[in-house]
Amino acid sequence: GAPVEVDISKLEPGQLIRVEWRGKPVWVINRTPKMLEQMKAHEGQLRDPNSEEPQQPEFAKNAYRSQKENIFVAVGICTHLGCSPTFLNGGFGEKVEGTEDGFFCPCHGSKFDMAGRVFQAVPAPLNLEIPPYSFIDDTTIIVG
Ligand code: FES
Repeated sequence: GAPVEVDISKLEPGQLIRVEWRGKPVWVINRTPKMLEQMKAHEGQLRDPNSEEPQQPEFAKNAYRSQKENIFVAVGICTHLGCSPTFLNGGFGEKVEGTEDGFFCPCHGSKFDMAGRVFQAVPAPLNLEIPPYSFIDDTTIIVG
């Protein structure tokens, strides 16, 4: 598949845009400072908080899992059996105490934080996949 260009010039804080790359949904999210702050609060509840899993780009092997702190790019497919997790922007509260934003997979209840890091005690084994991508300028990303 060809690389996909994504214009993020209109991506507001807290917003998600979805593009397709190699037949897979890819999310691009502009994380708010609050989202980034919340990510630290629940690190003890994650399976792999520093994302040490080898099958991902080097730049994703840390807590933010991104090239720029606020811009998060991930493959929107649950690592359990491939359902599509829902982005709960401000509605994650009942899923994880003290954390308002994240992704919830309706198929078997897996939960991921705003870096796509999987919570413990859910069926999904791994953090969400991060695709290869790069910035060609401040507002344009090439996925692939
Ligand atoms: Fe997502 Fe099973 S496919 S929890």
